[in-house]
Amino acid sequence: MLKKGFLPLQNYREYSIEEMKQRSSTFYSEMKRRRTVRQFSDRPVPRDIIEDCLCTASTAPSGANMQPWSFVVVSDHTVKRKIRDAAEKIECEFYKSDATRTWVKALGHLGTDHNKPFLEIAPYLIVIFSHLYGLLPNGQKKKHYYVTESVGIASGMLIAALHHAGLVSLTYTPSKMRFLNTILSRPKNEKPFMILVVGYPAKDTVVPEISKKTLKDIAIFH
Ligand SMILES: Cc1cc2nc3c(=O)[nH]c(=O)nc-3n(C[C@H](O)[C@H](O)[C@H](O)COP(=O)(O)O)c2cc1C
Repeated sequence: MLKKGFLPLQNYREYSIEEMKQRSSTFYSEMKRRRTVRQFSDRPVPRDIIEDCLCTASTAPSGANMQPWSFVVVSDHTVKRKIRDAAEKIECEFYKSDATRTWVKALGHLGTDHNKPFLEIAPYLIVIFSHLYGLLPNGQKKKHYYVTESVGIASGMLIAALHHAGLVSLTYTPSKMRFLNTILSRPKNEKPFMILVVGYPAKDTVVPEISKKTLKDIAIFH
């Protein structure tokens, strides 16, 4: 007899140890090809691919299953232009301010500056908002738990899904992002989390030469 509100676990699949070794190593090989790209082509991408990737993100675990996120997909040129204009104003401040000098220095190897042409060129900007709290139909606030962790996990799954589909993305986080609420008409319980710039890489795209920490550097087995 099942406890009320519970279902049998239906979709879990067990693999043999051999299959597991194969699958985990294949997935690693696939994921290690992912790179953040900052030069985009304006080549269109069918919307249903983006929709599937967003559905993948929506399967993410979240604190108390609150799913405290929304994904605003921008492809309209006028809206992309507005986002670019506002972001570049913030970036100009960021790159010349004394207060952010150390931060700007840490970005040196990426070769970034205040110009963000990709915000207009890429076919999609997926603006991810985290819901600081929910709103009940009567207007009362509903508490959300582990919002940042949850939205971070969903965003990571979205990045992985886009990569898996054969697209590239840039995680873009201007130092101030509240302007996105105004441009995209989002309520004040929604806080911009990141802009994911999505599309195909431009021809002859280059990426910074970087390395990742090794397993020895990141993992501790007890
Ligand atoms: C939370 C977060 C914020 C980021 N913000 C920016 C950004 O504003 N601009 C940018 O060019 N790259 C940004 N990046 C991309 C990182 O610079 C990039 O992931 C890192 O250099 C490693 O490169 P890889 O993604 O190719 O492995 C961000 C990445 C993360 C995870």
